[in-house]
Parts: sequence; structure tokens; C-alpha cells
Amino acid sequence: MSLRIKTFEEYKTEYKKSVNNPERFWAEIADKFSWQKKWDTILNWNFDEPSVEWFGGGKLNITENLLDRHLDENGTKTAFFWEPNDSTGTAKKITYQGLYDEVCQLSNALRKLGVKKGDRVCIYMPMVLESVVAILACARIGAVHSIIFAGFSAQALADRINDATAKVVITSDGLYRGDKQVALKSMVDDALNDCPSIEHCVVLNVTNEKVNMQQGRDVDYHTIIKNEPKHCPPEIMESEDPLFILYTSGSTGKPKGVVHSCAGYMIYSAYSFQNVFQGEENDVFWCTADIGWITGHTYIVYGPLLSGVTSVMFEGIPTYPHPGRFWEVCEKYNVNQFYTAPTAIRSLMGFGLTPVNKFDLSSLKVIGSVGEPINEEAWTWYFENIGKKKCALVDTWWQTETGGIMISGLGNLSPMQPMHAGYPLPGIQPILLDSEGMIITENEVEGYLCMAYPWPSIIRTTYGDHERCKNTYFSNYKGYYFTGDGAKRDKNGMYRIIGRVDDVINVSGHRFGTAEIEDAINMDDFVIESAVVAFPHDIKGQGIYAYVVVDQRGESSDEDITSSIINCVSARIGKIAKPDKIQIVEGLPKTRSGKIMRRILRKIAEGERSNFGDTSTLLDPEVVDKIVRKAL
Ligand code: WT7
Repeated sequence: MSLRIKTFEEYKTEYKKSVNNPERFWAEIADKFSWQKKWDTILNWNFDEPSVEWFGGGKLNITENLLDRHLDENGTKTAFFWEPNDSTGTAKKITYQGLYDEVCQLSNALRKLGVKKGDRVCIYMPMVLESVVAILACARIGAVHSIIFAGFSAQALADRINDATAKVVITSDGLYRGDKQVALKSMVDDALNDCPSIEHCVVLNVTNEKVNMQQGRDVDYHTIIKNEPKHCPPEIMESEDPLFILYTSGSTGKPKGVVHSCAGYMIYSAYSFQNVFQGEENDVFWCTADIGWITGHTYIVYGPLLSGVTSVMFEGIPTYPHPGRFWEVCEKYNVNQFYTAPTAIRSLMGFGLTPVNKFDLSSLKVIGSVGEPINEEAWTWYFENIGKKKCALVDTWWQTETGGIMISGLGNLSPMQPMHAGYPLPGIQPILLDSEGMIITENEVEGYLCMAYPWPSIIRTTYGDHERCKNTYFSNYKGYYFTGDGAKRDKNGMYRIIGRVDDVINVSGHRFGTAEIEDAINMDDFVIESAVVAFPHDIKGQGIYAYVVVDQRGESSDEDITSSIINCVSARIGKIAKPDKIQIVEGLPKTRSGKIMRRILRKIAEGERSNFGDTSTLLDPEVVDKIVRKAL
């Protein structure tokens, strides 16, 4: 099934078609997939409610499209090369047939555990092939998967299980990550003390550690699949049935469950994958993301498998056991398209070129970046030293909510410009709005990035709380989807993403709400109140700077307090969210009406020491001087 555009001219024609007649454009693409029943209507939408329905009346199962339909001709083709954490470990590979067999077995086993269409299943697993099996088994039986990144804490896991009222959780005994080993199952045990909806926990053996198996609740992965048949009739799904929930952070409150639908997500994940990466029949693709994030969902699992390609899945981290690990893996599997995050590039840049030049990277054709703006230095280093100035560098802008890449170069077809994501994919209609909500028609101006028209994989709702979906994305600018990002369009119409314009921090490509981190900090016994802002960080892109007001410190030192706060955030959210800097302050700069003036705190975190603009509304301007004097 080729969905690939092959020249930039063709891109322009397709783009025009997609805007002039979006329904016909997407219907022609949808026609290339396998359906149990074709759709009755192509698109019904209303951004006010919001409601978006693509291919209404259609019936399908996404796993038939990514497994069954490849078997006749490509059953023996490798679906994944799996590379272990440690280079001395045993690599594995799995064919499309092998994947089909195991997915069917686990599907049958999950059905026996009582999982039915529409039930939610949480997946809290390392980067092993069985995670892909678990995802696809859910999709096969119509269960809604909710993957929780294995770096989240037990409490964060429990929050997400409870929000989704999941019936089953699939996990492993433990995981390897660089030189660390994490006891995952014991975290699940902690979480499940507080999760009444969970009936079963499926446990995969990865690290051979001793785990507690609660009778009646916990079952062993291999034991339950062993005697199951390697066939499993797929559940027939409606186009708009939910395929998965994925939690992501926003500017307010607790993380929300972004819901994606079966048909629209299927079509857009395959379409965007093939066009951005421009892979050919026997190419090898590698996306280094974790399956716990949307990048892993769309470009490790769904996009590549729908397209029938061979991918690499890597268990480990870029710097273990040596800082050339990524390049070693590229050489080993002759990777043709390599997709990673700017933070990884920046951290590897620090090791110089010796680890790069040890390996042969000549198989690479397209290299990609995702998750945050890529600064010019990192762009150039990546382009010159990894891409050897001959590979296309695609800077792909998108979001958990968009399901797939929205603005990006298409392999070597599109013009490239450092730090510019570039042009929208066909079917994507970005606009820039000013602060009054008026459309900006000129170029070289910055504005709020919105979408004027639905695409197949747009967010459908936030799980259990449709109002929140409406308020977050469809209320700021009536009639448009608001991304939360600021962007600039240059004279050629290329988009450059500036960054978030809301209270969301992007740390190494991971999103956190400042309010979410503050809530975690405030749970510490020492803390009365706190304010969290971002500051520029050389490797992570943005770092987390926390200002905290403490109470009752008794004999405790500043170090005691900061380490207590760090532990608290690690337990509440996960180590990935711990503040890089914690400044203990006497008070926070507040207006007379009690609002924290974050603008000032942001400036201090960025290194500004004197020019804070208008501070006349501050209740106590001296607070600012005191903070500045001890700023970190
Ligand atoms: C936010 C979405 C989508 C995959 C990973 C992150 C930022 C993402 C880029 C890029 C500049 C980018 C935006 C966006 N972002 N890609 N190429 N250039 N910024 O997904 O966690 O949903 O975060 O990441 O700010 O809104 P996410």
C-alpha cells in the first residue's frame, strides 16, 4: 500500500487537492486500506462542540490492516529487529507472521481474562517486543489501550489507571535502562493498592527478578498465552470507536487522556509515516522514542506496521554502554531512516565526533527530529555529522493530540531550512492568529498556531471529560483547534515553531504542566506554596526552576528540604519531572489580587536580574529583590 508522494511538485498538487476537496482527498487514501464495511459519510464536523467524525458507518479492525493483510506476501518479512539495552545481550527479531501469531495468542488470553470491546487496558512496560504485542492484542479485541511510560511513578500510574477505570494492567517484572534496573512490578503493586477497577495484572518476565504474584489477580504472560491458538477473530470496530487513550500534561490540573479513534488515526499514521520518511520497500526505519509517548505509538507501532516496513526497536539509552550506541545500532541494522529528539542530539554532541566516526552511517537517507524546537547548533551538528550533509533532515512538528506529524519536510523532496519545521502535510491547514484572534495573513510575523480544518487523526475527546477537550483546544479561538504553540511563517510560507505559549514546560521533549509540578511540590511537608517556571537548559531544552516557600523547617538544612522535595516529585510524578533548580524563598511575587507574577519569576530563572518591566501591581515589590539576591 503505497501512499507516498514522490516529488515536491506532486506535494504541491496534493496539498491543493487536499484543501479544495478534503473529503475526496482522504476518501481516496482511505480506499487503500482494508475495511469490513466501507463508510457511509466521509466527514462530519463541528469545532464548537467539538465533534469530528471521519468515515462514519465504516467498520474495520486496525490489526487486520497491519498484520493480516501483510501475511500472504510478506509474512516472512522482519517486522522488528530488537536490540537489547546492553550491546552484549541477545538481539531478537520478529517477522510479520511471528507478530501475528503472538498477538492472536495474547488477544485470546485477554478475552479469557474477561477483557471486552471498549474495556481499558493499561500497559506499563519496557521497550520490548511484547509491548508491541500487548498494544496490538488490545486493538485486535477492541480494548482501548492506555500506555503509561515506564518512567512514571506508582502514584502517576495509579492516577491514570483510575482515570481510565482500567480493568487490566500489563507489565513486566522489571526493566533495564542503561546501567540501571527498575523493579516495575513492585511499583505496580504499590499502585494497585489504590486501583479498584483492576481485575488482573499480566506480568512478563524480562529481568528475572522475584516478584510478588497476587493469587487470582496476577498472571504470567507466557503461561496465559502458551496454549492459545495463533488465530483470533478481530473485533469489528466502528470508525469512530476509540483505539487508545494517551495521557498528556496541560497547563491546568491533572494530566488528561487524549482519545484517538480507529479509522482516522490509522489513515493518518500510515500516510504521514510514508510521506515524511519516504522509505522504500526494503528500507529499515528506526524511531528511538519510547512506546509510552505518542511518537512511539505512531512511529514505532502503527505507522511502520501499517506500511509493512522493517523497523528497529531499541531497549536502551543513547549513552550506554558507550556514547556511540545509537550509531552502532544504525550501522548494525543498516538503518535508512533515523528519528530521534533534539535532546538526544545535544547530549551526544557533548561527546565529540570520536564515537560517531567509529561507525558506518552510510545507509542513512533521512534523519528526523521531534519533540521540541531544534536549535541551530544541534541542527547543524546532526545534519553534518550524522547525515553527512547528504541526508534530508526532517524537523517534524506535531503533538499527542494531533496523532501524527503535521508540519515537516517530506524526506528529500522538500527544501530544508534549519529550525524550520517547514510546510504542512497535505490535509493540514495551519493558520496563525494574533492576540485578538484575527488571522494573520502576512508572513514574517509571529502568532498563535491553530488549525482551521480537521484532519483524520485529530483528538476526539479527553477521556471522561469532554468539556475539558473543548475548553483546552476549541475555546480560545472559536472555530479553530488551538495547539498551545507560537509559530512564525517566513517569506516562503515555511513554519518555524517558537514554543509553548501556555504554562507547559517541555523538558527533553516531555511535557509537564507547571501546575502539575507545583501540586507535587506542595505535597511535601516542608512546603507552603511554590511556583514553577522553565529556564533554558543546554541539553534538556528547558529545565524546571521551582521557587518554594517553606514552613517549620526546624533543624533542617536547605539540602534536606530540596532533597525532600525532589523525592516528593519523583514519587508523585516520576524522576523525569524533578526540578533542576529549587530556590527557597521567603515569599512569591504576587499582585494585590493574589496572583503570582510568573513573568518575573521566568525572567529571574532566565538570568535577568534587574529589568522586570511594570511591577506597580505587586503587593510587595521587595519580594523580588530578595529572590534576585539569592537566584540560582
Ligand atoms: C509539543 C507537543 C509530538 C511528539 C512529541 C511531543 C513541541 C513537538 C516539535 C518540533 C518544535 C515541537 C510543541 C508541541 N514540539 N515537536 N519539531 N519543533 N516544537 O509530543 O508531548 O504532545 O508535545 O512539543 O511545543 O506542542 P507532546
